[in-house]
Amino acid sequence: MQVWRVFFCSKMNTSLEKLKTTAANITEEICSAKLTTASDREAFRIRFLGQKRGLITHLFKEIPHLPKEDRRFAGQLLNALRKEAQTTLDSANQNPPVDPISLSEIDLTLPGRRNQWPGSRHPITLALSKITDIFHRMGFTIAEGPEMEDDWHNFTALNFPKDHPARDMQDTLFIDEQSPDQPRIMMRTHTSPVQIRTMMAGEPPFRLIAPGRVYRNETITYKSYCLFHQVEGLVVDEGITMADLKDTLYRFARAFFGEDVKLRYRSSFFPFTEPSAELDIWWDLSDHPDGGRWMEILGSGMVHPNVLKAVGIDPERYTGYAFGMGVERPAMLHYDIKDIRLFYENDVRFLAQFQGIPG
Ligand code: DAH
Repeated sequence: MQVWRVFFCSKMNTSLEKLKTTAANITEEICSAKLTTASDREAFRIRFLGQKRGLITHLFKEIPHLPKEDRRFAGQLLNALRKEAQTTLDSANQNPPVDPISLSEIDLTLPGRRNQWPGSRHPITLALSKITDIFHRMGFTIAEGPEMEDDWHNFTALNFPKDHPARDMQDTLFIDEQSPDQPRIMMRTHTSPVQIRTMMAGEPPFRLIAPGRVYRNETITYKSYCLFHQVEGLVVDEGITMADLKDTLYRFARAFFGEDVKLRYRSSFFPFTEPSAELDIWWDLSDHPDGGRWMEILGSGMVHPNVLKAVGIDPERYTGYAFGMGVERPAMLHYDIKDIRLFYENDVRFLAQFQGIPG
């Protein structure tokens, strides 16, 4: 509490000047009073307005000792002072400030709450980081590209013929209106355009993966969704052969699915690779009549010479391989998830099950 000179009633010395000074000091103290707690407010009431020892009450008793001509003014002054103290107190009682918790009131030795869920990594993030980690250890760098693409990067440069069915509305989410003189803009249907963008921006050798989201105009079911993730791979250098590709993919599959995974490399077709092949893994299923089944996990092949030409790389000097894998399917196999839609619903009961899984 503020220190001030209390006007004391020595009858001899009572003067209006003294009364004014004391009243000013009291006003100052009223204005700066801390009225946070109920006991602060009660102390304030007793100090200024108390019937017995209240300072203002006390001052009123001085009035008869003042010279006659000053008494009227002194009365007005003290009434105003009392009113101010009363209003300050009333408004503090009506809107008491929130008690700040002082450190001394917190018991820092209490044990923490155990049942709080600190969040977990999404299973797609977990699968992606496992995949990128494996390729990182094999010397691959990471490239990125836009999710909105034009027809040239998504299709033409990748050697898709003009009438290829993948360009059809069935598969591609176009985001513009078709017009005869405008190239079409779309959500990328695969991560392969990142191959084109990276090769356009640099010089061989290339050794990279490109993880990212891709979009398809698919009917949503337990096994397909309009958006999913892929990891693209590209290696271009002098003397790259299909043996390098197969070696890399087998190493990857063993690192991801386990050393004893059963693999099958089966020939296939993609416009941007020649020859092309797909990698299947054997999935044990106890309730399946054959004890399990082959699951395709990625497409791959030797980069088609037309693709190299489209990006200005001499196919006589350089060769390369590429691959592209989905992320959702291996993640579903790995974590035994039966419905792809669970990945995108953000249901905490689903997500919480991935707590503590190292990525
Ligand atoms: N882009 C293909 C798809 O979305 C996957 C793919 C296949 C990528 C073969 C490749 C590849 O790079 O060589 O189905």
